[in-house]
Amino acid sequence: MFHWLEKNPFFFAAAISIVISFAGLIEIVPNFAKAGRPLVDMKPRTVLQLAGKEVYKKDNCMACHSQLIRPFKSETDRYGDYSLSGEYAYDRPFLWGSKRTGPDLHRIGNYRTTDWHEAHMKNPPKIVPGSIMPAYDHQFENIADIETAYAEAVTVKNVFHTPYGPEIKSGKEAWEAYKPTVLEEAKKIAADMKDERVKAAISEGKVPEVVALIAYLNSLK
Ligand code: HEC
Repeated sequence: MFHWLEKNPFFFAAAISIVISFAGLIEIVPNFAKAGRPLVDMKPRTVLQLAGKEVYKKDNCMACHSQLIRPFKSETDRYGDYSLSGEYAYDRPFLWGSKRTGPDLHRIGNYRTTDWHEAHMKNPPKIVPGSIMPAYDHQFENIADIETAYAEAVTVKNVFHTPYGPEIKSGKEAWEAYKPTVLEEAKKIAADMKDERVKAAISEGKVPEVVALIAYLNSLK
């Protein structure tokens, strides 16, 4: 066989390619699979945070913001530790983004607070003079769709085995039973906010989009 290959350079080259590719695959693929695993003690996002992630997608924050800190000193000095692939294990889809008109937001929860976000989302240039970020005042009026976020949690639990607790399960009754937990979390965020529209909606058992969005931003650490 070897002598035959030596006399047929084309097949010899093909055989070498096959052997090297195969060896490469068994070296590289398991490493990818390992790096993509969730970090130890990492929890999936709460239903409120998932609803906030939907607002982030809907209002297209990704057009100007990335969520991926690269391992360069200039970035780690500014934003904190560089991002690891395991941190996105429960994000479906992940929102890395590729445009940075504004700063990276992957660790924004470490250095901005609820009341800062509230004032900034309402009117960015008032908080950061010269900011070109648009105002998102409508998020104080629009109500977040927490029921769909709950359904999303049930889906990723069933399909991808995302480790949600037994209380996250399909069915209208399960959702009705879980709803107070979401409202409780929303109330805690709203307690740090000043806007009257937010207070009014929360007292009626509704969650304004901005509250869900801030829950999500605070979870980015
Ligand atoms: C047109 C581009 C643009 C869009 C769209 C945009 N932003 Fe921004 N964003 C900016 C710019 C520029 C800054 C930096 C100036 C400032 O802080 O306002 C910024 C800053 C921020 C900051 C502060 C970051 C820091 O490190 O201080 C947060 C938080 C933020 N944006 C969240 C959002 C969210 C949430 C959305 C979507 C609802 C969004 N942005 C949409 C351009 C944008």
